[in-house]
Amino acid sequence: MCGIIGYVGRNNCMPIIFDMLKRLEYRGYDSAGISVISDSNLYLMKDKGTVDALRSVVEFVDCSIGIGHTRWATCGAPLKHNAHPFLDCKKELALAHNGIIENYRELKDGLMREGHVFSSETDSEVIVHLIEKYYTGSNLIEAVRTALGQVRGSYAIVVLDRRNKKIVGARHESPLVLGIGKNEIFLSSDIPGFLRHTNKVVYLNDNEMVEISHGGYSVYDFSGHTLQKEVKEIQWTIEDAEKGGFEHYMLKEIYEIPRAVQDTLRSRVDASILEIDFNDFERILLIGCGTSYHAALYGKYLFENLLKVPTHAEISSEVRNSTLAMSDTLAFFITQSGETADTLAAARNLRRLGATTCAITNVVGSSITRETDAVFYTHAGPEISVAATKTFVSQITALYMLAASVGEVRGEISASVKTDLRNALRVLPSELQKVLDNAEPVKNVSRELAKYENAFYIGRGYNYPIALEGALKLKEISYIHAEGYPAGELKHGPLALLCEKVPVVAIATYDELYPKMIGNIAEVKARNSPVILFSTENHPEANELADFVVEIPENHQIITPAITVTALQLMAYYVAKERNCPIDKPRNLAKSVTVE
Ligand code: G6P
Repeated sequence: MCGIIGYVGRNNCMPIIFDMLKRLEYRGYDSAGISVISDSNLYLMKDKGTVDALRSVVEFVDCSIGIGHTRWATCGAPLKHNAHPFLDCKKELALAHNGIIENYRELKDGLMREGHVFSSETDSEVIVHLIEKYYTGSNLIEAVRTALGQVRGSYAIVVLDRRNKKIVGARHESPLVLGIGKNEIFLSSDIPGFLRHTNKVVYLNDNEMVEISHGGYSVYDFSGHTLQKEVKEIQWTIEDAEKGGFEHYMLKEIYEIPRAVQDTLRSRVDASILEIDFNDFERILLIGCGTSYHAALYGKYLFENLLKVPTHAEISSEVRNSTLAMSDTLAFFITQSGETADTLAAARNLRRLGATTCAITNVVGSSITRETDAVFYTHAGPEISVAATKTFVSQITALYMLAASVGEVRGEISASVKTDLRNALRVLPSELQKVLDNAEPVKNVSRELAKYENAFYIGRGYNYPIALEGALKLKEISYIHAEGYPAGELKHGPLALLCEKVPVVAIATYDELYPKMIGNIAEVKARNSPVILFSTENHPEANELADFVVEIPENHQIITPAITVTALQLMAYYVAKERNCPIDKPRNLAKSVTVE
């Protein structure tokens, strides 16, 4: 996720351009850049680092039109030459992009053969060269449309044209809104970009384009037809708008899950990157801290099930001092931030012991990427709330993609399983959306759970790590003491604590362990604990044992946990809200833990 902006209007507009970018920094902050036209010259200023850092070093020139970008790297490390905007070879056009171009390698190869010279490792740069190829100097809209016709993926772009002093914007599965001011027009990934200047907006839909200049704006569809768009007035304050109208970043990020999963799926996490023989390994280790450890534990079930390789999930702080020889081990380090000190130390140690090491991280160019032999990115976009939400769902999606691709190489996954899983993944984003669109049942049980001071979460198999993660979310942000347990372990201790004051959140989505879960729920009920049941639609057998039920869409048993955990995150959120807790910044916790 990145932030893009375009502006045309007043003289001396560089401060406005920087202010707009600053407002979008929540979408990315590892590099920034702007391009403006002054005296018919095209200026490009960009660097790694924040918008403020760039602003403090550039020379301000007088201009009234420009574009800008604040980056969250997905393709190409966060370095100056990979920062947007990018110029075409003739230096007549500048482009900023938000999204992922899936077929950029083939497009780039073709363009290079035709003589185009590239300055970055990004996928985005191909777009400006493609536009250059089709642009004769008079009809930019047409050239952009032709270029985008060849691009596969998701994008919102802004293109600045030096000669004609205009900007063309276009969107496909990435956001772009138009702001209409008095004698000025704004383009932005999100409304906060321009809300200080105007509250009049035109929402662009997918596959729509806009041309803005000092003469005004025109909107078109991808077939070239002019569209009449309604100008709407929005009533939010800037503060509301930065969170996209959500009260907290956590809620906003939960609602970004369908999009984040789509981006992870699009990024094609592929085992071929590893260039290793998977038959060389006797075992796989999955390592992480906190939420990332829970993703590792989910991965253990997944890898053993799909790959038939002994797999262990380990907590980073526990394996960092291991002394075992590891030349037979493939080790994955899962870390959203890529900066967690214990995970970095564990990666260093296991590499020293001979393991082949891979990182799964959300932050391009983070420290973990320098400590491992290979890197997979989750592409979930920046996460601001301390409690991890969308990044967890992206981690388990990436693990699944890895397992599927390694399984294919090893010949462990049958064609029918592959088809089932592919179909399951295809509907995952819409099923996640369904849970988010129908949050009432979750809100209702949250009001109940908020009344207690202790809770257990139980699950079996794939749902055991999900129970752990659900309990972690609850304790982190609502301060209710919560423990996740394998349901079969209840009888070895926790049953002694169960009573009407200790509710149990039971995760009993449908799989081969479902009958056993029904038995465990009956055990709980016999101790008078209130039961909050997460079950799957079509399988209500356990519902009558529960005091409260949240039904979630049923998918493949490997994929359903992504949906269940989203509902559990939402429940933790509403419990914390009910208890008036500081949701985005829980006491004593930090987003990135760089101490040991
Ligand atoms: C902190 C955060 C957690 C996170 C953990 C690991 O404790 O509060 O949300 O799961 O660190 O972070 P990582 O960036 O390594 O995934």
